[in-house]
Amino acid sequence: VTTGHVFIATSLDGFIARRDHSLDWLMKQPVQKEDHGYEAFMASVDGLIMGRASFQTVARFPDRPYAKPVVVLSQTLRDGDIPDHLLGKVRLSRAAPVALMAQLQAGGWKRACVDGGRVIQSFLRDGLIADMVVTTIPILIGDGVRLFGPLSGDIDLRLLNSRSFPSGLVSNHYATGPVRSE
Ligand SMILES: NC(=O)c1ccc[n+]([C@@H]2O[C@H](COP(=O)([O-])OP(=O)(O)OC[C@H]3O[C@@H](n4cnc5c(N)ncnc54)[C@H](OP(=O)(O)O)[C@@H]3O)[C@@H](O)[C@H]2O)c1
Repeated sequence: VTTGHVFIATSLDGFIARRDHSLDWLMKQPVQKEDHGYEAFMASVDGLIMGRASFQTVARFPDRPYAKPVVVLSQTLRDGDIPDHLLGKVRLSRAAPVALMAQLQAGGWKRACVDGGRVIQSFLRDGLIADMVVTTIPILIGDGVRLFGPLSGDIDLRLLNSRSFPSGLVSNHYATGPVRSE
């Protein structure tokens, strides 16, 4: 089965964007010389699944094309909403998470990057996320779009690795699932 993998940056108070979706607080970090593992992570996935809101942010940065295919989950976007520079790289889907993962598996995807707060939350609820690299930015922004949200039950996580960087970023790699007893 195709597994979901998260690589995301959050403020210390748990937000991934301001309420107006701006990322200025993230972009201003002095991280230019650091390797937080993003390139290696992207090389490890077959493609990206992202929510409509995240796609709309990405579409504003034409200078940062994705090297991998992107599936945008949306009930509201139409093909005409995809900007020219992303045609052929992005497809829209209205599928539910479990159904989408089955389709992607049939298409040969082993690992999918799952991106966007609400989409990550729904994939977590459906048990489709295998692991998450959550990088905490040393800033409080007070309000915004949350990375995590309500759950019907706890999701146990195991810390696989933790790294801190001179910029103050702290990157924690978690696997989902209970701690295995030795
Ligand atoms: N800090 C970071 O590293 C980072 C990373 C990624 C994104 N971001 C930012 O975080 C924000 C994400 O916003 P968000 O959490 O509101 O949205 P999101 O997860 O990117 O998108 C949510 C939208 O996706 C659609 N959708 C379709 N199927 C869904 C499903 N199964 N579960 C949930 N949504 C589904 C819905 O749009 P329709 O109404 O069209 O159906 C829904 O409103 C953006 O501003 C983005 O730029 C930050």
